[in-house]
Amino acid sequence: MVAQLVDSFGRVATDLRVSLTDRCNLRCTYCMPAEGLAWLPGPELLTDDEVARLVEVAVCRLGVREVRFTGGEPLVRRGLVDIVSRTARLSPRPEISLTSNGIGLTRLAAPLREAGLDRINVSLDTLSPDTFARLTRRDRWNDVVAGLAAAAEAGLTPVKVNSVLMRGTNDHEAPDLLAWCLERGYELRFIEQMPLDAQHGWDRQTMVTAEEIIERLETRFTLVPDDPSRRGSAPAESFLVDGGPGRVGVIASVTRPFCGDCDRVRLTADGQVRNCLFARSESDLRTALRSGADDAELARRWQAAMAGKLPGHGIDDPSFLQPSRPMSAIGG
Ligand code: 5AD
Ligand code: SF4
Repeated sequence: MVAQLVDSFGRVATDLRVSLTDRCNLRCTYCMPAEGLAWLPGPELLTDDEVARLVEVAVCRLGVREVRFTGGEPLVRRGLVDIVSRTARLSPRPEISLTSNGIGLTRLAAPLREAGLDRINVSLDTLSPDTFARLTRRDRWNDVVAGLAAAAEAGLTPVKVNSVLMRGTNDHEAPDLLAWCLERGYELRFIEQMPLDAQHGWDRQTMVTAEEIIERLETRFTLVPDDPSRRGSAPAESFLVDGGPGRVGVIASVTRPFCGDCDRVRLTADGQVRNCLFARSESDLRTALRSGADDAELARRWQAAMAGKLPGHGIDDPSFLQPSRPMSAIGG
């Protein structure tokens, strides 16, 4: 019998998000300061072998069925294609997906597909190259758009696009972004901005809410909510657009939290298990791994790390404190 990653509320984690690096080639203003961050020191990063070993423990001993590689920006990690292909050889073979900013996909989409990558999410917050350059502090809009096309071409479908709206920057673009994605067959999901930026600049009062996003989309499209029974543990609420087949998703982490249905667990690039995006403590698997723990011991520690998962993120609680690790070092 395979063990499971169960918490004290009975939730079972089957979706593992692995951050492969905290570095990124963009500097999105809602994520990082212009000068970047103090990156994790090299010796603390898991090696490719160590990542593969922990993923194997999760899949083969702990019932994880989906593995998503994230960052920072996972495409900047040199061993990525090899890590994906080792993951694809596991039995039972997990679903393998990637969250990326799209830069480098023109080169990597086909090799990743060949290595066994199933699906991809690419972040794109604007259709204006100028707004993109301001928002990410890098002039790379064309690279991202070419990367999206390369992903679709390589069969990494359905290609999903993630957008974060910021008031006064790109919030007026919601309907244009949806039209653009529908035309190309990409599945767009809007993500409410969360208090996970390194600069602690998040403000509840100015964030663009799911309700507002839907209102803005409804100025141009007819949205019909999907049957809620189809949602499962998916963070996105999904809507059929203009009678279908196109859809749009809204991830309302802040205003309509979905913690009760969470099936996710995270592993950082330096080998720490986080049982929640917003967790304020982590469990160190790297030290155990490097001091010779066997797979059974690693699995036991991982299970112990899950047991203490809190019922929810508590963003609305007056005592809420942002986690000390920023989003770029946790992964999406
Ligand atoms: N709130 C919401 N989404 C964020 N992302 C990065 N930082 C935040 C934040 N503070 C998004 C990225 C990417 C995904 C991994 O998460 O734009 O699409
Ligand atoms: Fe990079 Fe993603 Fe952060 Fe933007 S949001 S700087 S793409 S890690």
